[in-house]
Amino acid sequence: MKERLESLQQEALLKVEEAQDSKALQEVRVAYLGKKGPITEVLRGMGKLSAEERPLIGQMANDVRAAITEKLEQKEQELQEKEIEAQLASESIDVTLPGRPVQLGASHPLTNIVEQVEDIFIGMGFEVEEGPEVETDYYNFEALNLPKDHPARDMQDSFYFTNELLLRTQTSPVQARTMEKYQGKGPLKIICPGKVFRRDDDDATHSHQFMQIEGLYVDENVRMSDLKGVLELFAKKMFGEDRNIRLRPSFFPFTEPSVEVDVSCGICKGQGCRICKHTGWIEILGAGMVHPRVLEMSGFDSKKYSGFAFGMGVERLAMLKHDIDDIRHFYTNDLRFLQQFRRA
Ligand code: DAH
Repeated sequence: MKERLESLQQEALLKVEEAQDSKALQEVRVAYLGKKGPITEVLRGMGKLSAEERPLIGQMANDVRAAITEKLEQKEQELQEKEIEAQLASESIDVTLPGRPVQLGASHPLTNIVEQVEDIFIGMGFEVEEGPEVETDYYNFEALNLPKDHPARDMQDSFYFTNELLLRTQTSPVQARTMEKYQGKGPLKIICPGKVFRRDDDDATHSHQFMQIEGLYVDENVRMSDLKGVLELFAKKMFGEDRNIRLRPSFFPFTEPSVEVDVSCGICKGQGCRICKHTGWIEILGAGMVHPRVLEMSGFDSKKYSGFAFGMGVERLAMLKHDIDDIRHFYTNDLRFLQQFRRA
């Protein structure tokens, strides 16, 4: 009995030592100390022992149980520490690693330009209007004094859906639409930004789709000097206080007289350089006094009312302002290009 207990103790302690994890340890505990284990069995068999032997063996069995229990606890602690260490090592965070950059989007440079232009004109009392991109032949051309077969239609090659429906070639149709809405009663002071479409081959300075901003002011006694004053203020706010404008005679069917407006070159300060083709001036928009026929067709009495109108290309403004040499940059979505226009 004595030898049996001694070998059981040795065996159990060895098994405990060999256990690799808490599950294996639990199995050893059940095998040796459990109700069906060998030690319980020894204690049960005590009745068969003599009165002298009984306390000795009982004492010994208890000592063996205590020794195994102690070893189990010690091993359990050891295993737990190891498990925690392993967990810490696998989950460790290196606080010295650089963080992952958060990618922030930027508003598109053309959006920025449109918003700047809107701010400037809103500051002068203009309101922002919008019109459809799919337009009728009537608003895109006829109401602007361009009857069918008018030679000036050739200036704007168009995408037609039917004889009467096309992608608008300019934002000018919004002039006619807005005048109709006002039902012959001024004053009317609007700008209209939007997309326009022309059958052009794309290259560094042409795109089949681009943006324009239209302007229209109709009231009693609107004069050419009002047009010049408004555009001069616009040019200075947009490009800088040191900039000037000049008006050159031109032709548009919907204005009479018509002008093209140049802004003084910001690179050479008007001295002449490569950018302004040695003229000191850069063209920024078309404008003029609204043709009396255009006023009349949209319901305004041309004897009582007069007005001025202008139209500018948004890409062109952006290219001049940011020194961009290819219009296609605006549409090809290269993040390296676009992220340069992030606003503070
Ligand atoms: N619609 C013209 C174009 O696309 C630009 C323009 C010129 C608009 C003169 C106007 C204007 O309102 O008065 O070329």
